[in-house]
Parts: sequence; C-alpha cells; structure tokens
Amino acid sequence: MDNNFDLIIIGSGPGGYVCAIKAAQLGLKTACVESSKTLGGTCLNVGCIPSKSLLNASELYHKAQKEFNNLGIEANNIKLNLSKMMNNKKKSVQILTKGIEFLFKKNKVTHLKGRGSILENNQVAVIDEFNKKTIYRAKNIVIATGSVPTSLPGIKIDEQNIVSSTGALTFEKVPKELIVIGGGYIGLELSSVWSRLGSKVTVLEFLDHIIPGMDRDISNEFLKILGKQGINFKLDSKVTEVKLSKNKVIVDFINNKSEKKERIECDKVLIAVGRKPSINDDMLKLKIKINKHNKIEVNDKFETSVKSIYAIGDVINKGPMLAHKAEDEGIAVAEIIAGQAGHVNYDVIPAVIYTSPEVAMVGKTEEQLKKENIKYKVGKFPFLANSRAKVNNETEGFVKIIADEKSDKVLGVSIISALAGTMISELAIAMEFGASSEDIARTCHAHPTHSEAVKEAAMSIDKKPIHF
Ligand code: NAI
Repeated sequence: MDNNFDLIIIGSGPGGYVCAIKAAQLGLKTACVESSKTLGGTCLNVGCIPSKSLLNASELYHKAQKEFNNLGIEANNIKLNLSKMMNNKKKSVQILTKGIEFLFKKNKVTHLKGRGSILENNQVAVIDEFNKKTIYRAKNIVIATGSVPTSLPGIKIDEQNIVSSTGALTFEKVPKELIVIGGGYIGLELSSVWSRLGSKVTVLEFLDHIIPGMDRDISNEFLKILGKQGINFKLDSKVTEVKLSKNKVIVDFINNKSEKKERIECDKVLIAVGRKPSINDDMLKLKIKINKHNKIEVNDKFETSVKSIYAIGDVINKGPMLAHKAEDEGIAVAEIIAGQAGHVNYDVIPAVIYTSPEVAMVGKTEEQLKKENIKYKVGKFPFLANSRAKVNNETEGFVKIIADEKSDKVLGVSIISALAGTMISELAIAMEFGASSEDIARTCHAHPTHSEAVKEAAMSIDKKPIHF
C-alpha cells in the first residue's frame, strides 16, 4: 500500500468519519485512524446511539405498562427481558458501525486500524493490535480524538458499581437504587432509562437547577415533569465521598446552602458531571497550543498552532460537545483543506435531550440575552392547547420563541415536547435564514401536528395566538 495521503484523520467519531468521507468526496486521498475495534467513536459505540436504543425501548416498556390500557389496548403480563433489550441495542450499534465501514469503502477512505500518533514532519505512526508500527505521511492531519468522561476528585470509576455512561449502558440487572451525580444531558437521559425499567433514581446536582445552559423556564418545567415521573432530585448538592462497602455504594453529600450532610446507600452510582477532551502525549510533544480548559486552540479554519495540523469536535475550544457540531466541523475542515470555503455557524447549533418529553433548544436563552443587554420579546405556546398533542396524550411542555425587540429576528427557541428533537430543525433553518417571528407565524404549518405550536408561539409574540 502507498503510505502517502493528502489527509489523515485521527479518530473516527462523528467528526472524524464525516470529515474522511467529505474529504474523499472532494478528491483528497484520505485515511482515518481508529484504535477501537469498530468505527464511530463514543457516539456510535457507547454514547448517542446505544443510549437512544435504551431510551426508545424503555419508553415503550413504560407506555405498555402505564398507558396502553387507557387506550383500549389490553396488554397484560408485560415483562422486562433486559438481556434481550441489551441485545437489540448491540445489534443497532453493530449495524451502524458496519455502515461506516461500508461508507469508507464506497468513498475509498483507507481505514488504518490501530493507535495513531502524530510525529514531526507530517508523519503519523499507527501501532496495530499486534504492536506493529507503520509510518504514514500526510500533507494534512486532522485531530478528531473526541472526549472521555470526567469524574470527581478522589472518586474512581470502576464501570461496575461506580460507572460512567459506558457502564450505565450495560447493567446486567436493573439496579434497585441508582444515584446519578450530575443533572445534565447524560444524567437525565440515563435516569429516565433506569427509572422506567424500575430503579429508584436520585439525581444529585451541584447547582440549584438542572440542565445548566438551557433556558431557565425550560429547566424549571423539565424538573417538574421528571419529578412527576418519579425521579427524585436533590439540588444544591455537593458530593463529598463515594465509597464501596460490600455490595453497596455509599454516597455522602452536603447541601451547598443549608450545609446539611446526607448519606444515601445504593446499588450503583452513575457519574455524569461532564466530559474532558482526549489530548494525547504526541499533541503535547508537538507543542500544539492547548487552553486552560485543556482544549486544543484552533482558528476559524480549524488550524492548530502547528502548520498543517487541524482539529475538530469535542477536543477543540469551540462550541458544545455535541456529535452534530463535530460532523459540521468535519465537513467544514475537509472543504477548507480541499481549498473551498468551509464554515460552521456556532450561533445556530441545536441541542436535544432525548427524554420523554424531549427538550430542545437553538440559539440564545433569555438569561444569555439579559447578560448581553439585548432587548427581546417572548412568545410561548403550551402543548395543552395543541390538538395533535392532546389526542396523543402528549400535552406536557411548551414552545418558547425569543425575538429581537426591534427587528423581530428570531434569537432563540426552546421546546419541551414529545417531538422537540425533530421540531427544533425547523427553527434552526429559520434562524440560518435570518427569519423574523412573523415569518414563522405566516408560514403554513400542517394540521394537526405538534409543529403548529411553533407557529402559535411565533404568533404569541404579538399576543395573537389563535388557540390559546
Ligand atoms: P453536562 O455538562 O451536560 O452536565 C453535567 C452536570 O453535572 C451539570 O448539571 C453540572 O452542574 C453537574 N455537576 C458538575 N459537577 C458536579 C458535582 N460535583 N456534583 C453534582 N453535580 C455536578 O455533562 P454530561 O451530562 O456528563 O454530558 C457530557 C457531554 O456529553 C455534554 O457536553 C453533552 O453535551 C454531551 N451529551 C450530549 C447528549 C445529547 O446530545 N443528547 C447526550 C449525552 C451527552
């Protein structure tokens, strides 16, 4: 094999594999290095995809138990077969990771199997599973090594009793009692899964609210909804110790405000307090500039401080740690390397929590606009007044649109709804095209759909909704 490439990408997560395919489509001779057995990175193997499989299956299980009867579907004796549910998840992951292998072949991307490290002079060393080292040359290199879970000081994740999201996706038995540390994306999605499957779940969150970074209205409403679903929340809670005692885990925590100390014993603890970039020794040796948050610094062209080395995804100092942000950066950097004008609009990156109901947002929150001294107006519409949501028994939540007070340009949207994750794309497109709330209000929306609530929220900005 010829060991010279136009581009070598290190890492095959959503950033890396999308970049590889795009670069090959643009005519670059491209290779992608991956140290894991399968392609797809965290998202496909131990993140977005397996969690969505369990979220879907556990939601159906829960509905079959609690809602079918009311709909006239008499499904008696519903039982959980956890190992079958896990197998179904495994199959979905396998199909999708194999799908990337297929796409690599179709687009003539070379898959280099092994651990990649960047040497000087545009060389990449790949050490395979038999410890055989091969050196490749690349005119350009893209670092797309992603991120790994963080823990708390003094707490060691063993993936058995004290787990990260990886361990919480493979429990062999439903834990009787699960403590989740961190009320963010991972914490709340996996709390939902295990609570639906029968665990008693308590979430310990350091702040006085969950999902920091999302609109506070949404965060408050979501807390109420999850509380009604049976998830127990202890906000303002600082965990001081997590220790193993026989087959139990003991969690000590203290209330930030009252300073009251508490202790809970449980079967499993999930640590979901964020992720940190995967920075390897080779990057440090090459003196690639890394900021104080341990992220690689890149400019608008995704160039690092070292010539012809680029970086994208969770490992860089731009945007949220989200798979679709990395994908867009992968496309943009491939275009830039191919001599085109690649660009990512960081103001319009949707974020979704795939619980039931889902939570989604794009653009700015009210809190951000207040901080930035931007004058705005708000339109809200509840799903209680949306006909489709009503017939589907999905009346929880609302759409909240924020528009500039003078120009009426849409600045941000937040949604809680059964279909929020799908609905938010309409708003992302509207914002990319610089839409006003009136543009949305005057766009015909199909009836009866949940999306009519978007139109009505836009109409509410001038206090004129039809159905509320
Ligand atoms: P996160 O940043 O979403 O949430 C972490 C939570 O832990 C925050 O609420 C924070 O206040 C809390 N926390 C931090 N230290 C704490 C402490 N000592 N005690 C108690 N609470 C503490 O991080 P998470 O959920 O671990 O997710 C990691 C990354 O993965 C995020 O950047 C997220 O964007 C991404 N992700 C995205 C998903 C999606 O798009 N649906 C799903 C899962 C993960």
